[in-house]
Amino acid sequence: MNKTVQLNSQQSTLIVCLNPMPEILYWGERLEPLNEQELVQFQLMTERGLMQARIDEDVPLSLCPELGRANFGSPGLEAHREGKSWAPQFIYDSHQINAQTLSIKCQDIVASIELQIALTLDDDSSVLAKSIKVINRDSTPLTVNKLALTFPLPYQANQVMSFHGRWSRELQSQRVRLDHGQFIQENRRGRTSHEYFPSCLIGEENFSEEKGDVWGFHLAWSGNHAWKAEVKSDGRRLMQAGELLLPGEVILKQNESYQTPTLYIAHSRSGINGLRTKFHPFIRQHLIRFDRHKVRPVHLNTWEGIYFDHNPSYLSEMISEAAKIGVERFIIDDGWFKGRNNDKAALGDWLVDKNKYPQGLTPLIKQVNELGMEFGLWVEPEMFNPDSDLFRTHPEWLLASEGYSAVTGRNQYVLDLQNSECFDYLYSALNQILSDHHIGYLKWDMNREIVQASHLGRAAVNGQTQALYKFLSKLNQSHPEVEIESCSSGGGRMDFEILRYACRFWTSDCNDALERQTIQRNMSIFFPPELMGAHIGPEKSHTTRRRHDIHFRGITALFGHMGVELDPVAESESEKQAFKHYIELHKQFRPLLHSGQSFFLDSRDHSRHAYGVFDKQQTLVAIAQLAMPEYMLMEPLKLGMLESDGDYRVSMVHFPHSSRGLMKRQPDWTQEQTIVVKGCWLKNVGLSLPILDPESAMLIHIEKSH
Ligand code: DGJ
Repeated sequence: MNKTVQLNSQQSTLIVCLNPMPEILYWGERLEPLNEQELVQFQLMTERGLMQARIDEDVPLSLCPELGRANFGSPGLEAHREGKSWAPQFIYDSHQINAQTLSIKCQDIVASIELQIALTLDDDSSVLAKSIKVINRDSTPLTVNKLALTFPLPYQANQVMSFHGRWSRELQSQRVRLDHGQFIQENRRGRTSHEYFPSCLIGEENFSEEKGDVWGFHLAWSGNHAWKAEVKSDGRRLMQAGELLLPGEVILKQNESYQTPTLYIAHSRSGINGLRTKFHPFIRQHLIRFDRHKVRPVHLNTWEGIYFDHNPSYLSEMISEAAKIGVERFIIDDGWFKGRNNDKAALGDWLVDKNKYPQGLTPLIKQVNELGMEFGLWVEPEMFNPDSDLFRTHPEWLLASEGYSAVTGRNQYVLDLQNSECFDYLYSALNQILSDHHIGYLKWDMNREIVQASHLGRAAVNGQTQALYKFLSKLNQSHPEVEIESCSSGGGRMDFEILRYACRFWTSDCNDALERQTIQRNMSIFFPPELMGAHIGPEKSHTTRRRHDIHFRGITALFGHMGVELDPVAESESEKQAFKHYIELHKQFRPLLHSGQSFFLDSRDHSRHAYGVFDKQQTLVAIAQLAMPEYMLMEPLKLGMLESDGDYRVSMVHFPHSSRGLMKRQPDWTQEQTIVVKGCWLKNVGLSLPILDPESAMLIHIEKSH
């Protein structure tokens, strides 16, 4: 009989057959632990037959599929020793179960390669984490071209949802049906990227926000990646993800190892919402690094307000206005350091610009603190401009391939963080800034892709990414009170691994509320609202030139880690009052938003988004109308997550004035302060809704009535 092990979480069970090579037999709803006799029956039930006209042995779809074992799909490992040992065949060696982690050792004694596979099933959320380490046990070097994490999927998983995008239009989704062959995504941009988010959903056809069997995957890595969904000719299907290794990037000497990033997997039987209910608590419990008791302070970020035009007395006015509207963290963005008057110069010269700030930053920081706000500062440490003292002094710190002319991106070059002198210089520059000033937050930018990254002549995206983690970790240790935001031109470096060092993502440089609706919807599949930087921008968007009233902007920014991105001094009194109102609303609902369960509702009318957050007591729902409504009446609001028993108080928090023009008469309940209805009505019958104008939103609060 084959050796089988079982891992359980509160809600799921994983059964792995260990030999000849470990293979997942089952991962799904929790089963009672199987006794020996049941295991025999289980294996009998799941054992495959042999196909005619093919290899005379069963080929498992193992945790690291091997070409050497006649697995003709994508191998988990691709490696060689100068052309030899190229088709390894592993055998299970031993395993260990430690709490929720199953560690399995496999060996190929012919090729002298060892694999260590780790599977951790989180007890509360049932999120499964997988990683593999390959170790070279021979004295000749082993070149690793690929080590990927493979996960088998059941037959009904035939629709892939992937996420593509670009700067200012991140996290767009597309669906493809997969019956044969592969769907592949590859990112070679040297950072997580705007273009290819390292995640996908694979599920049964037409899985939706509320319905269907669906698996969610996220590769926790901030460098290059590749993933594929594959259907083999025998119908078995799999998802496979890993770091995309550049030529020669990993060459292992004897006993050296390469470890993959972690692949996180969640399964839901209730559509995408079921994935939100797994990924969000998992992140909250295991990855979030800030103190959960500290509220996420409302930001004012100066970028779109003043860009490079820094003037301390004007900034002082901005600070006073920010405090009046309820801002809790004031951030000076790009433009504060020596010679930084535009985006062409000075990156790398991390000294306060004495021309702009003759008294330094301290008087402003004092003012910010005296008004009860925290102070934050923008930095972009991984870069230098050709026009900077740092480049003039240390051109050799450029991350590039010798003999080629290096290309700039946003007029800047990338620094080689694997160069220890460069690393130490940058660390001491940042350490100095943080030690000299009372800073609570750093907006950590990274504004370009990496091209021909070489360290000592060898491809260096992996090394650069690891060095960045090391740098951030060192800074976190020496300044634990400083929260770092992963910015990267907005949305360029959002992943679970950077979260070990960062506390917030700048979601997108696009503050246009209409664009944000889609970006934030898809981001919310993986990340809880408190990590999603969401700012109210000026009425006329700086990236799209579209105009939106304050209510659409305010409601859209409400469901994240809120901020404002404008110059409050230059805004009208009525706009300022409106910012204040939405900041107050955000603060009122912040405990719910930042700890509750996020959901999105299915709508037959794709021109509307209906979404919100709920906990045991209350639900906050936003209905955002993106385009002209499909129908003349709005689809009623059905809230399946509410309890049937008991009464709920329903109140309209915001109804946009302009929409009154579209309806002769609104539903009567919207005229009342509050109505009290039964949970089972809200679940099954639905609340009648007024029609909205395109690009407007309403906000509804539902609370359990005692
Ligand atoms: C890109 C960021 O995403 C913006 O928010 C801003 O910080 C600029 N860089 C500053 O250069």
